[in-house]
Amino acid sequence: MKFQLSTIEAYNEAYALSLENPSLFWSTIAEHYVWQKKWDTVLEWNFDEPRVEWFKGAKLNITENCIDRHIAERGDQTALIWEPNDPQAAYKKFTYRQLLREVSIMANVLKSIGVQKGDRVCIYMPMIPELAFAVLACARIGAIHSVVFAGFSASSIADRINDSSCAFVITTDGMYRGAKQMPVKSVVDEAVVHCPSVQKIAVINHLNWPTDMQSGRDIWYHEAASHVADSCPAEPMDAEDPLFILYTSGSTGKPKGVVHTCGGYMVYAGYSFANVFQYRDKEVFWCTADIGWVTGHSYILYGPLLNGATTMMFEGIPTYPDAGRFWQVIDKHHVNVFYTAPTAIRSLMASGIDHVLPYNLHSLRVLGSVGEPINEEAWQWYHTHIGKERCPVVDTWWQTETGGIMISALAGITPLKPAHAGLPLPGIQPILVDAEGKEIVGNDVEGYLCIRHPWPSILRTTYGDHERCRINYFATYKQLYFTGDGARRDADGHYRIIGRVDDVINVSGHRFGTAEIENAINQNKAVIESAVVGYPHDIKGQGIYAYVILADHREASDAMRDAIIETLVEQIGRIAKPDKIQFVSGLPKTRSGKIMRRILRKVAEGEFQSLGDTTTLLDPLIVEEIKAGAL
Ligand code: PRX
Repeated sequence: MKFQLSTIEAYNEAYALSLENPSLFWSTIAEHYVWQKKWDTVLEWNFDEPRVEWFKGAKLNITENCIDRHIAERGDQTALIWEPNDPQAAYKKFTYRQLLREVSIMANVLKSIGVQKGDRVCIYMPMIPELAFAVLACARIGAIHSVVFAGFSASSIADRINDSSCAFVITTDGMYRGAKQMPVKSVVDEAVVHCPSVQKIAVINHLNWPTDMQSGRDIWYHEAASHVADSCPAEPMDAEDPLFILYTSGSTGKPKGVVHTCGGYMVYAGYSFANVFQYRDKEVFWCTADIGWVTGHSYILYGPLLNGATTMMFEGIPTYPDAGRFWQVIDKHHVNVFYTAPTAIRSLMASGIDHVLPYNLHSLRVLGSVGEPINEEAWQWYHTHIGKERCPVVDTWWQTETGGIMISALAGITPLKPAHAGLPLPGIQPILVDAEGKEIVGNDVEGYLCIRHPWPSILRTTYGDHERCRINYFATYKQLYFTGDGARRDADGHYRIIGRVDDVINVSGHRFGTAEIENAINQNKAVIESAVVGYPHDIKGQGIYAYVILADHREASDAMRDAIIETLVEQIGRIAKPDKIQFVSGLPKTRSGKIMRRILRKVAEGEFQSLGDTTTLLDPLIVEEIKAGAL
């Protein structure tokens, strides 16, 4: 069986084998990688605890597979292209040989400040090459990286650092965001006041921004780098040692640290990349996500590098200096495979075709979409105006917890349907269930999407709280991993993801728990209580609609709205700005005190007619007030 499937027959055969004998299937795939020692057992698992162990007994280092193994054959091939924020500034390219050197230097700097195997390292940086080096350097020495997206606030960083007691932080002086420059290190400084575990902060000089350095704690990366060797041995890791933690929002509480491990994650990230995008040697692959999200982990860094690909990292934003920036970059670097989010497509679509026409998009072969449902109109625009009807558009469904793409067409191999994720990858066993957990069989059906058997990159735990992992993902339906998504399986067995069925909302592909946003809003002293729901938004997919009760209703004003937005920016970050804030005097609660979110959702959607039964409400009149004040 080949690692990369190149026909529909090969897909069918691989899928059948993966069902029949998952261990044989995955051990055959795993043979494709370099192991310092092979496994004793392929898979041990039960979803009750849950406990999942892949390739137990094996030793490896993922960076040997991402870099060292390619040196003999493609040492001088470009591994990483970095395109800066400013289109006039010089881009950078790093060959596999240069990447090995940069990662080794970073690894030695980390060692020099005391980082050891198993330590957690928080990385809070913009999209510059040193971010890639930092992630890979942690993996090189067996430290566990916890990348925090640079749009999060000091308070969010502090929560994440504390949850996994990181002793080290890697950051930059500042960053660009379109035409603006923004501080970064000072945000970290503000965070670590509340983080007793932090011992050292390594700072990369990106903007020459005036930066306070605390003696004994903070070091300039370039200074430390000039004193270390440029080679560093790869630490032997157990297959089940953690590789990284990535925080993501759930329906309750604070974001949780999803843990992925070295062996299984490697096997699946590489396999899914090769197959979904049908990557061909020497092609340029561009995933526009930020490395602060799982998409960036798996498909800017690990997946492409495991396949010896040329991967691109983009520092900028889609609309700077104008809405043609993505298409200009594709033209400039002859990008072959382009992977982005529906929100970006919808917003660029709204800017008009004139931003696309000046650029030569001939190099494109495959287009991808990720992070949220793609509506048919956006799919068609992407297919027609960017792919010129030549390029398959793969709609890839997956999650932080799954580590890699789970349901997607394989470009040019399996059939494409607009706005459908399609068929599962080999080794992935989706199942739809009803509210009682009973399997919904047959086709042309809808239900809650679960997965029945482990795949190598399934999350292993949520950091420091295994019980939370069990309750969130493995307790809703017995013996199943529950995704939190609803899905439809059409007459041909293709899946279409409908969206979250829990209290998680997806705003521009960013995931938030409604409770998390409510808790943040409630930090504002003027607020007594709030309730947050998502509503359909033309560009963002979902927008944030907040109902807020003020201590003094007379304070309801635009200035108060701004103050609440400011609170959210402080508590979570600039990505959590609500779209609509409605001041209300009460919330629709049942007699037992539960907020009837169904009603709030309907009002936010502008659907006043079908509110359903409101007679069980403590105060049915409140619904009239909320309807009258709807935004
Ligand atoms: O609701 C699904 C949606 O994004 C959620 C996962 O979010 P996150 O962990 O942040 O990972 C995003 C990138 C993998 C899912 O539960 N989602 C992701 N991809 C799709 C999607 N919804 C529809 N179609 C997709 N292709």
